[in-house]
Amino acid sequence: MADRLLQANGITKVYGSLAPTVALNDVTVSLDHGEFVSLVGQSGSGKSTLLNMLGLLDTPTSGEVRLDDLKTNDLGKRARAGLRNRRLGFVFQFHYLLPEFSVLENVLMPTLISGDNKADALSYGHEVLELLGLSGLENKSATELSGGQKQRVAIGRALMNKPALVLADEPTGNLDTTNTDQVFRLFRQINKDLGTAFLIVTHDRRIAQQTDRILEIQDGKLIQDVLSPV
Ligand SMILES: Nc1ncnc2c1ncn2[C@@H]1O[C@H](COP(=O)(O)OP(=O)(O)O)[C@@H](O)[C@H]1O
Ligand SMILES: [Mg+2]
Repeated sequence: MADRLLQANGITKVYGSLAPTVALNDVTVSLDHGEFVSLVGQSGSGKSTLLNMLGLLDTPTSGEVRLDDLKTNDLGKRARAGLRNRRLGFVFQFHYLLPEFSVLENVLMPTLISGDNKADALSYGHEVLELLGLSGLENKSATELSGGQKQRVAIGRALMNKPALVLADEPTGNLDTTNTDQVFRLFRQINKDLGTAFLIVTHDRRIAQQTDRILEIQDGKLIQDVLSPV
């Protein structure tokens, strides 16, 4: 299917061998280009594990993950990392900004690593900062920012390589309601303006209900996959 971005077939993830934990149990799910989806479930239900599998950060015990119709299970570590850097962006609960670098340098970090054209990266970096309402803060140290601003810089960093999909694991978990709403509005705007697909892990039902599709996981099983009523 032309619109298919990501396809996971029968993914099972077992952690440990002496006292094994089945974190994911035969999960099949797919994401199309440009979708705006949330993933909900109780603490310990397997949300982060699923995100890590779909984001090629970890490999399943069994089952396959296809990205751009490529069987990622067959790829070596380095090829998987390359695919991840080119196609995916990540936002976590904690921002992981580098404190000794400026806002602009933090946003540009992925392009410094991938060795892109410097002038193009710089101009796109400014564009991204503007989109996130961070213009004027380019030269500030990351430590001088508020919590909401830091998370927006982290979002900017995730966008630098123009990912087809952003995977966000409880991205507003450390933010108050005002900043939560702002981050969420930005996700939606990026989704509309750039066509970026989003998979957002949240335990906030109010947030989940504003996405186009809700996945729910319980004890490692996908128990719901529904389009939101508009
Ligand atoms: N690295 C790990 N090693 C062992 N068990 C893990 C590991 N990561 C997660 N788990 C276990 O897998 C289950 C699912 O965890 P997780 O995916 O983090 O859930 P959630 O993100 O929904 O809170 C939990 O029982 C958790 O304790
Ligand atoms: Mg988690």
